[in-house]
Amino acid sequence: MTKAPGPGRHALCRLDEIEDGEGKGFTLGEGPDALEIVVVREGERVYGYVNSCPHTGTPLEWVENQFMSEDGGYILCHTHGALFRIEDGHCVAGPCAGDALRPVAVERDGTDRVVLVLERPRGAPG
Ligand code: FES
Repeated sequence: MTKAPGPGRHALCRLDEIEDGEGKGFTLGEGPDALEIVVVREGERVYGYVNSCPHTGTPLEWVENQFMSEDGGYILCHTHGALFRIEDGHCVAGPCAGDALRPVAVERDGTDRVVLVLERPRGAPG
């Protein structure tokens, strides 16, 4: 079975389920159409990206929820060592330098929950 996540707001977790300065992976949907994302927390802020390196399209982590560089300053692709800025996903070092992770809209919902907001694809029936 395959199922892409639909448009709308998708609750992911509580903020305190992501360690400050760390990333956490999520899978929405099922099968080949599933959406794999990483959410990185910096204090009260969260940043979300598709969990796919722009170099070859592989997932960024090798070990569950280990997305960060050793110094914690960047998101790390473990395959060839590309480093991405937390705040905008821009690749600052590695084979895909100058490229960027694909952002997804994640936000706090006013309580302690982190939610993913997926827009309806352009041209899709309303
Ligand atoms: S696959 Fe990410 S740096 Fe090569």
